[in-house]
Amino acid sequence: MNILHLSDPHLFADDSSTLLGVNTNDSLQAVLEDIRRRKINPDLFVVTGDISQDYTPESYQKFVEYLAPFNKPVLSLAGNHDERPKLKKYLSTAPFSTAEQLITENWQLLMLNSHVPGRVYGNLSEEELLWLEKCLSENQDLPTIVFTHHHPIPVGSHWLDQIGIDNGQQLVKILSKHPQAKMCAFGHVHQSTDRTHQDVSYCSVPSTCVQFKKHSADFSASQEKPGYNLYSCSKDGTIIVDNFRVDNYLPSVNLAISGY
Ligand SMILES: [Fe+2]
Repeated sequence: MNILHLSDPHLFADDSSTLLGVNTNDSLQAVLEDIRRRKINPDLFVVTGDISQDYTPESYQKFVEYLAPFNKPVLSLAGNHDERPKLKKYLSTAPFSTAEQLITENWQLLMLNSHVPGRVYGNLSEEELLWLEKCLSENQDLPTIVFTHHHPIPVGSHWLDQIGIDNGQQLVKILSKHPQAKMCAFGHVHQSTDRTHQDVSYCSVPSTCVQFKKHSADFSASQEKPGYNLYSCSKDGTIIVDNFRVDNYLPSVNLAISGY
């Protein structure tokens, strides 16, 4: 099974709107074009939030319009820039889905909700953590990937590490207890990171628009190109992670802007 992981498109209703100088609608389309050009043929797309930047129905409809031609399942969850009910309203019609659990012949995928309405940081409710425990306990024979928006572990940028999952350690503890939990993959940090902790891989994906500078104390954007991850998942529970950056597109990042 091949999973194409996209995150943080930050789309607008207005095609000319920009985030930190970057036209986010154009950059998502450049990412999708790059996937086509490389002839990557994923079994499904997983999108870990911040789909909209302006909270409009049109921004979600544009996301549908851009991804629909692939004719593949698209599993989405909400980021801090989304309104969860709106995301569910527009991204729940096949092949789009906001299902929290997907069980295939050999794998279990869990979409964990870290969204806190009106807040930038993330949190996992008691209910969400109990549900995660239940899914892992009931499917001990299935290697599992957990997707979430916010990062459960520090990524090494002080400002970002203040706005991750505030109780991320509880997630780390649960995953460490279950040997079939192979990977936790997330967005929010707009950069590629990969770290293994107690046999679980914690992996972030670049944004499809503007990137954040690595190891930065304060907010700082970067000129890096948009990107995406491909997870090639084998029956035996191994995952090969490939990171891609868009070849034929250079984002016009305005580095003078000090926040987003
Ligand atoms: Fe984001």
